[in-house]
Amino acid sequence: MPKHFLMCRPEHFAVEYAINPWMHPEAGADRDVAIRQWEGLKSTYESLGHQVSLIDPVEGLPDMVFAANGALVVDGRVYGARFAFPERGPEGPAYLRWFAERGYPVLEPEHVNEGEGDFLTLDEVVLAGTGFRTNVVAHLEAQEFVGRPVVSLTLVDPRFYHLDTALFPLDGRNVCYYPDAFSEGSRRVLARMFPDAVLASAADAEVLGLNAVSDGTHVVINYEAADLQLELKRRGYEPIPVDLSELRKAGGGPKCCTLEIRGDN
Ligand code: ARG
Repeated sequence: MPKHFLMCRPEHFAVEYAINPWMHPEAGADRDVAIRQWEGLKSTYESLGHQVSLIDPVEGLPDMVFAANGALVVDGRVYGARFAFPERGPEGPAYLRWFAERGYPVLEPEHVNEGEGDFLTLDEVVLAGTGFRTNVVAHLEAQEFVGRPVVSLTLVDPRFYHLDTALFPLDGRNVCYYPDAFSEGSRRVLARMFPDAVLASAADAEVLGLNAVSDGTHVVINYEAADLQLELKRRGYEPIPVDLSELRKAGGGPKCCTLEIRGDN
């Protein structure tokens, strides 16, 4: 099943502030390398048959490349983002405008939430992260808007500050995750909901291996996550390794660069 993704070319990418433990402004990042790596991700999606739409990057928003944070789109309905840090604040309206201009029904959110960074959609439920960025009240707001049960999960390790750094859907029914990123109660919820989940190691998580994008067959994943790729193969998936090391300097990987536009075709 081909997917439709929204991406944002990292033309203004930089590490200028630190809002997560991966970011070191004094060390900076190489924008040209980031652009090259991002182009590689985009063409990987296209070669797998997925459709990629683009939003214009905005000067002064160095993290706008992380499109996943721009919204949550379910059944063609767009729940907008409201960012936790002022540095990224203007991204919310910019992404919402992209959808509104194309005729999507949109909801401007009342509560702080960072889009698909903290909301991951399965067939019957939406998994939602809280603890660092998204306010748990936004989980209710999203549930009212998308009409699917939203399950709240608490993140406890600041390196894995968004749900999509700790867990990814393998398909509409199963997930892969790094248990230690979650509170004890949330680990029990995950174990109950997904007895067949693929569990990742600390080494996989530390290279943002959980920030992956699966179409149910192929899993686009940071190449450094070696153990996880072996495990995915063993479980019948085809890992498609990509190199996004420069974007990781801002705390992002393949999923962060990718907003799925669900259910508009
Ligand atoms: N520097 C960005 C931030 O801290 C990275 C966002 C990564 N996006 C994601 N979906 N995890 O907000």
